[in-house]
Amino acid sequence: MSLFRRKSIAALQAEAAGEQGLRRVLGSVNLVLLGIGAIIGTGIFVLTGTVAANNAGPAVVISFGLAGLASIFAALCYSEFASVVPVAGSAYTYGYATLGELFAWIIGWDLVLEYALAATTVAIGWSGYMISLLNGWGIHVPAELSAARGTVVTLADGSQVTAAFNLPAVVIVALVTLLLVRGIKESATVNNVIVFIKVAVVLLIIALAWKAIQPANWQPFIPPNEGTREAFGVSGILAGAAVVFFAYIGFDAVSTAAQEAKNPQRDMPIGIIGSLLICTVLYMVVSAVATGVVPYRELNVPDPMAVVADRAGLGWISTLIKIGALAGLTSVILVQMLGQTRVFYSMSRDGLLPAWVNIIHPRFRTPWITTLVLGVAVSIPAGFLTVTEASHLVSIGTLLAFAIVSAGVLVLRVREPALHRPFRTPLVWLVAPLGVFSSAYLMYFLPRTAWERLGIWLAIGLVLYFVYGRRHSKLAQGGDAAA
Ligand code: ALA
Repeated sequence: MSLFRRKSIAALQAEAAGEQGLRRVLGSVNLVLLGIGAIIGTGIFVLTGTVAANNAGPAVVISFGLAGLASIFAALCYSEFASVVPVAGSAYTYGYATLGELFAWIIGWDLVLEYALAATTVAIGWSGYMISLLNGWGIHVPAELSAARGTVVTLADGSQVTAAFNLPAVVIVALVTLLLVRGIKESATVNNVIVFIKVAVVLLIIALAWKAIQPANWQPFIPPNEGTREAFGVSGILAGAAVVFFAYIGFDAVSTAAQEAKNPQRDMPIGIIGSLLICTVLYMVVSAVATGVVPYRELNVPDPMAVVADRAGLGWISTLIKIGALAGLTSVILVQMLGQTRVFYSMSRDGLLPAWVNIIHPRFRTPWITTLVLGVAVSIPAGFLTVTEASHLVSIGTLLAFAIVSAGVLVLRVREPALHRPFRTPLVWLVAPLGVFSSAYLMYFLPRTAWERLGIWLAIGLVLYFVYGRRHSKLAQGGDAAA
């Protein structure tokens, strides 16, 4: 039974109330911006083109709608939890309160795929746009240092070079790490400026490229299936939804900042749902514009939004779009890494990770050691993996967390019906099961390799739990146990 020992909600709330370590500086607008900062990134700037060209055609708009819907179900469940237990651990903490320690550990470990590996994925996307921008200025990053090991890079003269390492991806992770060590307030301010820039860029694409739409490019809107599950038709739209789901990852990072929120009960749901709704609308509109301007088969490029701008005759704006995309991607890396440090912080405080994870910098008030270790851990795969390899694993890990959180809301409703819930998931008996089902359904459409890697990752996590966490758990050593 000790595997399923639970932290009580009362203890979590007391922890949140008494928490002095992190400064409470974020208001509701900051939280919405934090969410948008985490959400808009590689998904819209890179994967839109990939999915339109390979999976869904112009119906990528529907893929975005479906993935957005699945995210909204999960978001409503996250909001209830975040309003009840506004602590830094997000899904990990919710799991601890509802399903018990073993599940909490599994979720916490699984969240590394979501946060840290998403930061890795986005750093790789950042590298692609940066190289493209520098090329435009006549500055050429040596091909050997421009992509994942083994990637064949074709040079301007047609010759081919095999890359060894993705240097720009590592550099951006290092810079973001230093920023995070400096502190949340500074980070949030920088984030707000960047979010403003990237939303402006997306709106600019919509407003200016709109006129260049050729309705013929939307025909056929749903290209007929080409024989495999992934290639077009209705199943292609669903496979596309599983891929573009990546674009929505991030709203839950808002919940990891609960302890830094001034008024978490009110502002958590505003931050989570507000940022998600804004992004869903932007994604659907911008993907419609992109496929209306450029025939979908031509969108399979590393910088599709710049191609859209070029095709719409906005040559001068293409550079601006690349800069905006870079800013956007930077903020995603920032928020994902911030979320990861906060989850580790909670796990360490519970004894499931070593105590040094929890050391707060005396002046900056940030978990600086964890942040530095994380920076190294994120940058290594960023140097060696491709976007595709990394993004599928991030999506499957995140969908698993979403499914568990959605189920957890129902478990808590049954176990503690009288609990004061500042935000209640509406129609919970419909929305939560839909959250579980839609997440599982999207997982089903991800490739087999992603499933295998998820299995291996979770197996490693289980070993670590039984070797370390189980014995060092504070709950096990006489803390509050609800089980
Ligand atoms: N949603 C984030 C992105 O699209 C992870 O980059």
